[in-house]
Amino acid sequence: MTETSLRCLVTGASRGIGAAIVDHLDSRGHRIALTARGREGLEQVAAGLGQPSLVFPADATDPTTPARVRAQIDAAWGGVDVLVVNAGEGIAAPLARTDDALWDSALSVNLTAPFRFLREFVPAMVDQGFGRVVVISSVAGKVGAPYISAYAAAKHGVLGLVRSVAAEVASSGVTVNAVCPGYVDTPMTQRSIETIMARTGRSEAEARATLEKQQPIGRLITTDEVAGAVSYCIHDSGALNGQSITIDGGGVQS
Ligand SMILES: NC(=O)c1ccc[n+]([C@@H]2O[C@H](COP(=O)([O-])OP(=O)(O)OC[C@H]3O[C@@H](n4cnc5c(N)ncnc54)[C@H](OP(=O)(O)O)[C@@H]3O)[C@@H](O)[C@H]2O)c1
Repeated sequence: MTETSLRCLVTGASRGIGAAIVDHLDSRGHRIALTARGREGLEQVAAGLGQPSLVFPADATDPTTPARVRAQIDAAWGGVDVLVVNAGEGIAAPLARTDDALWDSALSVNLTAPFRFLREFVPAMVDQGFGRVVVISSVAGKVGAPYISAYAAAKHGVLGLVRSVAAEVASSGVTVNAVCPGYVDTPMTQRSIETIMARTGRSEAEARATLEKQQPIGRLITTDEVAGAVSYCIHDSGALNGQSITIDGGGVQS
């Protein structure tokens, strides 16, 4: 199997970080299966690709999704070499207003769904003796912050998943790593900007500046910068395993 023939699955592939990861993989000559809930966004991203692709609209939180997606990719391509678990949602609330439904929702998409994708795809990668798994966590997976207790718990938890699975498969040719971005310029961050505007009466520029200042480099991270780190994890020779790479301009140092 050559690098140029890698068969990839990217979740949350229809916009933002996921769409940038798809572009990077496509530019390396890989085939990509794209999944997210909305078909239209997936088809728009797929239409711009140079390599063959597959599109699977599905909710990542549905327990049947990983097996259904895998069965369809196996039927088309005979297996998967690269799994990028990117689908996630930023959910914010003060602790006292974090009710059970919000907690469950944050953990469902950001922690339980990644667990189910890894459980479905990693054993077959071990059997074939090669695989690259990258999970998009967050700086909120490394440090806590106000109003994100459920999201931070999920993003911390997913790093525990990554580290444990990486240790479990270390001798198999499969690597499992995480990328932890700060605030990235995506539709998710645009929603955070709109929430700040609504809660504080600040202008869009002021609200955006609030988030920009949280990165020591004074700007939002680009989707391309995150995709570059994901690409590094995928194309590494195999010694990078169980790591979580922070892409936040130097705020969280490890
Ligand atoms: N933006 C940031 O500042 C930032 C920082 C750190 C970490 N992250 C993480 O990076 C990842 C991507 O974030 P983003 O900023 O690119 O978000 P985004 O712009 O909102 O895109 C999210 C993607 O995930 C899909 N998605 C969301 N919920 C899903 C579900 N239940 N099932 C299947 N697909 C789902 C969305 O498509 P549909 O809505 O059509 O399903 C979309 O393709 C997330 O895990 C996020 O937590 C983001």
